[in-house]
Amino acid sequence: MKGIILAGGTGTRLRPLTLVTNKHLLPVYDRPMIYYPIQTLTQAGITDIMIVSGKGHAGGFLELLQSGAQFGAKFSYGVQDQAGGIAQALALCEDFADRGPVAVILGDNILYDDISPAIKDFRSQKRGAKIFLKEVDNPRSFGVAEVSGEKIVSIEEKPAQPKSNLAVIGLYCFDGQVWDAVKQLKPSARGELEITDVNNFYVKQGTMTYEVLKGWWGDGGESFASLLQAGVLAANRAAEKPDA
Ligand code: G1P
Repeated sequence: MKGIILAGGTGTRLRPLTLVTNKHLLPVYDRPMIYYPIQTLTQAGITDIMIVSGKGHAGGFLELLQSGAQFGAKFSYGVQDQAGGIAQALALCEDFADRGPVAVILGDNILYDDISPAIKDFRSQKRGAKIFLKEVDNPRSFGVAEVSGEKIVSIEEKPAQPKSNLAVIGLYCFDGQVWDAVKQLKPSARGELEITDVNNFYVKQGTMTYEVLKGWWGDGGESFASLLQAGVLAANRAAEKPDA
């Protein structure tokens, strides 16, 4: 299965840090933010990875990450001409993925769980998608899932009245249906093609599975506080496991 890292967007919530530098290249303790999602994928054996960034920043990613050899991976690069949403960036990866299944991670998502077992479960799933959930104190800032037993009932993007405190984190496994699903999307109220609408395609089909993360998860691009917290946690972890 191929991997995709989405690192576009304008990072408005972190201005002025993001006026010149791309959000995903900001430091999180001792390394650029995007190193964490790279590690999440490669640790799970996903090493053929396409990185999509925005206009004006693509050169920085290429310069920093190069072929991917330093991560034991092989990188391809894509450029999103305008910031039209996560799902629009994903649509650019259709040829790279040969219309097959993919693991997609957002370049600002930092998680400590080893996702290998979940990827294995997804591979044995006949069709559909898998999302990853984490209990949070501020669900209004995220996609929020309503769950009933093994089933996802609904997902709402940044709801004013969340139906649960389970955030849908920025890591998704999709089967090949995703390539047609992204073509049917309509822009949301904020003018973007939303990943939540892709997820709801699978929810409606009844083929969406989920995992709840055990370890810490942070969206480094959500706020200054989340960026700082990610750095502090990364520093603590580095002290525990210096070789990780
Ligand atoms: C995106 C998704 C949201 C998800 C979040 C996780 O939001 O739209 O559903 O919960 O990533 O990091 P963004 O941070 O791009 O606003």
